[in-house]
Amino acid sequence: MKFPVFSLRLKLTLGYALVFILASLLGAALIYLVASTELTRSLDATMEETAAIVVGNIEREDGAARFAADLQVRSELALELLDARGQVTAQAGDKEKLNLGSPRPGFQTVQDWRVYTVPLAGGGWLRVLRPTDLLSGLLETLARVLVGAALLMIVLSCLGGYLLADRALKPIDRVALAAASIARRGAYRERVPVAPGGDELTRLSTTVNAMLGSLEGTIEHEKSFARMAAHELRTPLTTLAGRVELLLDRPRDAAAYRAGLLQLQERIGALRALSEGLLSLARADAPPLLEPVDLAGTVLAVAEDLRPEFRAAGKTLHLDVEESWVQAEPEGVRQATVNLLQNALKYGGSQVTLRVRPRELSVADDGPGPPRENWPRLLRPLERGPGVQGISGSGLGLAVVAALARRWQADLRPGWAAPGFTVTLHFPEVNP
Ligand SMILES: Nc1ncnc2c1ncn2[C@@H]1O[C@H](COP(=O)(O)OP(=O)(O)OP(=O)(O)O)[C@@H](O)[C@H]1O
Ligand SMILES: [Mg+2]
Repeated sequence: MKFPVFSLRLKLTLGYALVFILASLLGAALIYLVASTELTRSLDATMEETAAIVVGNIEREDGAARFAADLQVRSELALELLDARGQVTAQAGDKEKLNLGSPRPGFQTVQDWRVYTVPLAGGGWLRVLRPTDLLSGLLETLARVLVGAALLMIVLSCLGGYLLADRALKPIDRVALAAASIARRGAYRERVPVAPGGDELTRLSTTVNAMLGSLEGTIEHEKSFARMAAHELRTPLTTLAGRVELLLDRPRDAAAYRAGLLQLQERIGALRALSEGLLSLARADAPPLLEPVDLAGTVLAVAEDLRPEFRAAGKTLHLDVEESWVQAEPEGVRQATVNLLQNALKYGGSQVTLRVRPRELSVADDGPGPPRENWPRLLRPLERGPGVQGISGSGLGLAVVAALARRWQADLRPGWAAPGFTVTLHFPEVNP
């Protein structure tokens, strides 16, 4: 089912107008009701007063009642005297022929006449009659005025409602227009105007701005990452191209080519490590998909893979592993362990210990560790410590570990002991 599309302005206007129309109609009906009751009551009171005066001006002759000769009757009134059987015995003023039935005390309305009947002390009845056309004429005029006023109110309420809705929605329009213009031009550094007043509109504009701010952060981050990656890859690629050119600039013998190719192979290996590191960092931006990871099992597998490298370097890898399950990503845990073990292998002494405790993974070596004050910097991509010339690496290992730790809400802590350096990953408590 398809609903007709109304603008919010129109909906609000109709809403305001509807409330106003109902209120005016109700008000008009109430005024009409009160006016008609009050007018009838006051006319009845006049008739009662008239009746009281007339009763004082009734004379009796042989038991028959008649009006005193000097009784003045107001032009719009008519009077009748009736005997006990209800037969009219005297009358004053003009009136139509009415079928009033047998007399009974009080008020009644018959055709267009209001009739007031009072029993007389000496027997018989007095009737005061008054045409109702005066009252109905008044009420008709009142109704006409009320309907006119209500119509005017309705027109005014529609107009006022539209103006109010327009005023209320203008700031939203401004935010929407600014947001649309930002989206069209991709100007994510710009902001929408903040509506003053601290109300819902202020909240809307500040929320939109906060969203733009966070988008700007993400976009800037992506841009700087792409710039950094391009820059880092350009240098080794230029070196590589230079070496190939050198190798080809004149004919050489097989041994020289072989030596050159071996050098190239080494460079390509470093380049691959760099691109893999960059890829790991880029992946660390994706939303994490956490699952229970067997910390002990994962790190033992990594230790087995790296054992030949330790053996080749003449270093010993000790394992001190307890059962531990954490909320993380298996591939990430593997990668973090590799990075930390390789650092210990490259920069540590001869003994390296890989330790697993409940919700804790640590790699300790017996080297001096990096200078304490350098630690925060070394967690950033492409940063390397002093005195690493001649040691292969691109400064991405710790940055990847730090990014992974953030994904798992784990804590990455360095620890210096004399002598020895330990890096520990503390995992958060697993919610059952
Ligand atoms: N166990 C350690 N002992 C002493 N210094 C360390 C240790 N681990 C890291 N460092 C210092 O921190 C720097 C950054 O380490 P990171 O792992 O990020 O990069 P890298 O090892 O130089 O290169 P990559 O890991 O990308 O091959 C290293 O260059 C080194 O100076
Ligand atoms: Mg490293």
